[in-house]
Amino acid sequence: MDKVLTYLHANERRFIDELKDYLRLPTISAQAEHASDMVAGARWVADHCRAMGLQAEVCPTPGHPVVLANTPRRPGKRPRVLIYGHYDVQPPDPLEGWESPPFEPRVVGGRLFARGASDNKGQHFAHLKAVEAYLRTGTELPCDLTFVIEGEEEVGSAHLPEVLRRRRAELTCDCVVISDTGMPSLKLPALTYALRGIAALEIKVTGPNRDLHSGIYGGSVANPAMVLSQLLAGLVNQQGRVTVPGFYAKVKALSAFERRQMGRLPHQDAAYRRFLGAPALFGERGYTSEERRTARPTLEINGLTSGYQGEGSKTIVPSWAGAKLTLRLVPDQSPASIVRLMKAHLRRICPPTVRLEVKAGHGAEPYWVSPEGPLAAAALAALRRGFGREPVLIREGGSIPIVVGFRKILRAESLLLGLALPDANAHSPNESFHLEAFSGGMRMSAHLWAELGQTLARRPASSAS
Ligand code: BES
Ligand code: MN
Repeated sequence: MDKVLTYLHANERRFIDELKDYLRLPTISAQAEHASDMVAGARWVADHCRAMGLQAEVCPTPGHPVVLANTPRRPGKRPRVLIYGHYDVQPPDPLEGWESPPFEPRVVGGRLFARGASDNKGQHFAHLKAVEAYLRTGTELPCDLTFVIEGEEEVGSAHLPEVLRRRRAELTCDCVVISDTGMPSLKLPALTYALRGIAALEIKVTGPNRDLHSGIYGGSVANPAMVLSQLLAGLVNQQGRVTVPGFYAKVKALSAFERRQMGRLPHQDAAYRRFLGAPALFGERGYTSEERRTARPTLEINGLTSGYQGEGSKTIVPSWAGAKLTLRLVPDQSPASIVRLMKAHLRRICPPTVRLEVKAGHGAEPYWVSPEGPLAAAALAALRRGFGREPVLIREGGSIPIVVGFRKILRAESLLLGLALPDANAHSPNESFHLEAFSGGMRMSAHLWAELGQTLARRPASSAS
């Protein structure tokens, strides 16, 4: 292990330069104009893996390709672990918010700034470099590893389940390791044991067949922007509760253990409010901010469009209004049934003055896995060694659609070992990856293969957790 850690330390400069090359590729999965950049991104990952001594393959899908890369297989039975990550990134908009261009990575104040730095290129790159350290120092890897690096996480991972099914025999594993979540601070490395799920919807209400002069016609026909605003405003009440009937029916209450764990995190609402820059905090009554943002379900408006958006004023009654919504879900809510409830409710409350269309988008099931088994213990030991600090157990509010796919298709649970700090600005302008989270993450990864190797070798082959 010493050789591995020495290698990681000695080569860190080069790793950062390589990560910068990776971050220069604008691999924006949501935008069709970047389709060829997505192919270039997948090739970059596969080539990089090969250069490190892995066997790598770019698997085409009907969407963006998936990269599969294996450590050299040696005779004898070894524990098998998948490492999942994604090379796709969120769109960088709004561009005016960036202090330096999103695809021109820069190190400032110990952090590497670029779109995708934390979410997720930097995080899975830490695992790649830890594995490189084993291979280049001739240190025997205690586990057989397969990297699964996909290009559609930010748009719902629609095509990855099919790849997992098609390649099930090769991808069967003892567990999955994912660094695509967060840690509360460099002093609090974390094992995340729950993620929220998600259901995405697009709503459109249409009134007149064209934009109308608001002086000539206004008052005689419903304004679709007003109707949509009224519909949306009623979906959450003053107590921060979603008003859709049945929305909370399947929600599991937080256990006393969980509320205690959350209470142990250093959280101060005043500092949190200042950090967010909002005039006041708001959320579901009866829950702390930490509970609200990680363990309670929500309904959010992500985008709202209607009428004239240009300079100055334009006196119209817009023909239509649209909204993009997502609902974050917790066990045991499911995206399909929440979409059904939403559609039925919207139809019920929509007035006859507009035509309503509701389209369901991507979805992901919520995830919860016990933080108390032997795999979790191995992960906690690796975090402790990598960061030199006692790790915490956390739930998180984001979603990783494929984790439930790993469970259902491969019967494998995921260890979520996030390296993104709270100020990483994922999905926002000025995204960054803290270089100490990078180095701690590489050390954690190096220790993890040893810890998992020992834990899994001790265990009967078929038990899953
Ligand atoms: N890395 C995030 C998920 C995440 C963020 C987990 C913070 C825990 C804490 C991931 O890349 C992501 O953004 N996922 C999307 C999924 C969606 C588009 C289907 C999300 O959560 O919005
Ligand atoms: Mn993301």
